[in-house]
Amino acid sequence: MRIMLFSMLFVVSIFAGDSKWESNKDCEACHADISKKWETSRHSKSHFDNNDLFKKTLLYMVKENNRLILDELKINCAKCHNPRVKQKEVTKSDKFLLLMDLDDTKEKYDKILNSKNMKNGINCTVCHNMNKINFDKSKGSNGMNDIIFGPDGTMYGPFDDAVSPYHKTAKRDYFVGDKPKLCFTCHYSGENDNGVTVYATGKEFDKNSDNSDEGCKSCHMSKKKKGFASNFAPTGKKPKSRMVREHRFASVDNSDILRDNIDIESYVKKNKFIINIKNRTPHSVPTGYGLREIIISVKYFNKDDKLIGKGKTVLGTKWKGSNGKATTPHLATFQGKDTRLKGKSSKKYKFSIPNGVKYVEYRAYYKLINAEMAKKIGITDKFFLKDYLFSAKRVEL
Ligand code: HEC
Ligand code: HEC
Ligand code: HEC
Ligand code: HEC
Ligand code: HEC
Repeated sequence: MRIMLFSMLFVVSIFAGDSKWESNKDCEACHADISKKWETSRHSKSHFDNNDLFKKTLLYMVKENNRLILDELKINCAKCHNPRVKQKEVTKSDKFLLLMDLDDTKEKYDKILNSKNMKNGINCTVCHNMNKINFDKSKGSNGMNDIIFGPDGTMYGPFDDAVSPYHKTAKRDYFVGDKPKLCFTCHYSGENDNGVTVYATGKEFDKNSDNSDEGCKSCHMSKKKKGFASNFAPTGKKPKSRMVREHRFASVDNSDILRDNIDIESYVKKNKFIINIKNRTPHSVPTGYGLREIIISVKYFNKDDKLIGKGKTVLGTKWKGSNGKATTPHLATFQGKDTRLKGKSSKKYKFSIPNGVKYVEYRAYYKLINAEMAKKIGITDKFFLKDYLFSAKRVEL
């Protein structure tokens, strides 16, 4: 224990200096569990250099619309994706210099957009340095423009009696209880430059949540449980036992959130194979980024195990540009057909059974991006291309 303590203090002292609050590594010596969990979350991958889909979407946007400037887009998207960005917008004169491709200006923006804190994503100091939130539902989410950050080195959290040797602490109500205010600064809703709503998780939540105690944390972090806020304690003392939550920000890849909250039932009735999907979440499924899909594929086999028919249903939505062709949500001028399943609802999907079927197999899986658009954008990271299977079954007729 003494050795651990010594090495912890050592790690802390290396970090003393300018970069004390830049990255989760600055917190890890004392908040090891939290830091490790956070690293499994998508919040840790929100910088374009760590995210093939985000990066290539930016490149695709400037390719499709030559009036867009890459660095300006990066700054605009940063208000939610990297809210510790030091500059809020590109000035008119800089815009001109960027268009002229001048090295000095490019370098300046390169520095701003690639700071250590930016690269670390939606990290500890994004959420825990929020001194005040000015979120207004009628204006939707504005990321850092809804947030007033406090002085460097003050960590706001749920407790009024936390004492830390490394930083100041203070309690803020939006860390207490279940209310989703903090999450809404980025997850309520967002529009693209054409005024099309491309994110609406919070709006969906407001329509469908029937339970005033329900927020986002019980599913996407965890229910409150006994643990420690910090694994550090001064010599001779033990860390304080606390009610805490997991910092996993559960998504389809780092958790069983689909299995746990979406029920699937299948049966045969009057020559139809029926799949009943129940969405127990307060938002649509899929929600969030507009090109997510849930696919249900059905295969029919005869008594010789030969495939004799197929069926498929897609829960998702399409985005169209002014030329009527499929595009990314961020360039869309209108939203196509929306087949996502609304929050707290269920729906039966019916498939006709061909003659001679002995058994049916179905698979229900999640795609982080629709296959056609993944190809157009040029996604290569398998993480975004693979199927996230969450239910499969063989049903005898
Ligand atoms: C400062 C803006 C911001 C705040 C505050 C924020 N998020 Fe996020 N969140 C994002 C962005 C941006 C992403 C996408 C990151 C990526 O994939 O690159 C994201 C991703 C996620 C994901 C993963 C979705 C996926 O793609 O799998 C979940 C779940 C999530 N957030 C939940 C929450 C919850 C719960 C809260 C509140 C406790 C919260 N977020 C607060 C901006 C934010
Ligand atoms: C997207 C926002 C977000 C990010 C990023 C985030 N936290 Fe938190 N954190 C929260 C919320 C919300 C709570 C309050 C949870 C609750 O209801 O108890 C919390 C609680 C805590 C607590 C108190 C213990 C607990 O579980 O309640 C500590 C300590 C903490 N966070 C440290 C960190 C560290 C260190 C990081 C980076 C590795 C981090 N947090 C990243 C939102 C965030
Ligand atoms: C030298 C150890 C140490 C380091 C490094 C450290 N913390 Fe802490 N932190 C603590 C201790 C101890 C507590 C109090 C724990 C308790 O009371 O249960 C704490 C409490 C907190 C709380 C809860 C505050 C509240 O009032 O609810 C947050 C949030 C937090 N730390 C965030 C961070 C972040 C973010 C970093 C990195 C930038 C960090 N800490 C680095 C030791 C540390
Ligand atoms: C009852 C549990 C539950 C609650 C409460 C809940 N979610 Fe979800 N969330 C899920 C499930 C299951 C998924 C995966 C299916 C999907 O994409 O809709 C999901 C997906 C997401 C995604 C997209 C994940 C991805 O991989 O793209 C985001 C973002 C998100 N939730 C944010 C929120 C926010 C913000 C709140 C609070 C306003 C919230 N959720 C409340 C269960 C929940
Ligand atoms: C209003 C806040 C906000 C703004 C501004 C914003 N985003 Fe997002 N973005 C989010 C949230 C929240 C998520 C997480 C939703 C989810 O994962 O389903 C997200 C997710 C994404 C994803 C999916 C990432 C992944 O890992 O799967 C892409 C791509 C994306 N955004 C592109 C952009 C681009 C390009 C811009 C700028 C033109 C932008 N976003 C501006 C809030 C925002």
